[in-house]
Amino acid sequence: MKITPIGGYSKYGYNDVQKGPKFRSCVRVYDVENKKKFARPYILTATCFFRDCLDWKNLPEFFIKNFKDKSKVNMFCFGVSDGSEAYSYAMMIFDRFPEVLQSKFLPIWASDIDSKVINAAKTLKINITDDDIMQKISRNIHKLSINDCFSYNSETMEIENDQLLNNNDLAFSTYDIKKPLSESVQFECSDMTEKLSTIDDDGNTIISCRNALFYMNSDYISNFIQKLSDTLKSNSVFIIGANDRIVNIDKMLKDSGFTEVMENVFRRN
Ligand SMILES: C[S@@+](CC[C@H](N)C(=O)[O-])C[C@H]1O[C@@H](n2cnc3c(N)ncnc32)[C@H](O)[C@@H]1O
Repeated sequence: MKITPIGGYSKYGYNDVQKGPKFRSCVRVYDVENKKKFARPYILTATCFFRDCLDWKNLPEFFIKNFKDKSKVNMFCFGVSDGSEAYSYAMMIFDRFPEVLQSKFLPIWASDIDSKVINAAKTLKINITDDDIMQKISRNIHKLSINDCFSYNSETMEIENDQLLNNNDLAFSTYDIKKPLSESVQFECSDMTEKLSTIDDDGNTIISCRNALFYMNSDYISNFIQKLSDTLKSNSVFIIGANDRIVNIDKMLKDSGFTEVMENVFRRN
């Protein structure tokens, strides 16, 4: 098994996939079509399982306690890329939630504006490096085994412009997502603001929107946060990624009626 070194900055300003990527399940690079609403000329779908800057260990207890009075919790994952992030939440639920509570939080409604990654996600296959399995997935699941979640597929799934495919140093394999994990996430291609407008909240919503908003320009972000604040009722939760703090989304959320209750986890006041 080949272990991939971590580190390096690329021409994209992120860890260099040529020198050793930090993000391991998918790094598709694409030009944005509607340039006006984006702050950057291209988007990376860079993602991985159990991505950092979220307290995966203590999140289950928080979710369970926060929604103890609700009979159903609607969980959304915006800008989900190839699905690794939504599957991480689902694995966390299967692994750490009492069985009677699991269906309360499932399925996870996952969406992304990029039809290419969503079509890949809908195949219920996923590309994972050995390193990702060793360093992230096995560290975060205990009762479940890797075999409970994935089965090796001898074919390679190719996602257009995925930098992982061009990198000979990366040992990745294609896996099938197994039941019940495969049935725990529903994928759809949509813009996050449009998706937000379909949510009818009763203080029982979790929206994870990590490392996606920071691609958008300031008008888009302000409009999104205004709509978010109008849509979510007291007690509902919004989760961001480390990159979103670069454009001060944490401060904007605090100014719009949210309190940061755990690292990158905001609850509507
Ligand atoms: C860097 S990836 C982050 C993936 C995952 N959330 C994570 O943190 O690992 C950003 C994703 O956001 C998606 N995205 C960008 N703008 C979006 C929008 N307006 N609506 C929905 N998804 C968007 C991109 O297509 C890309 O897959």
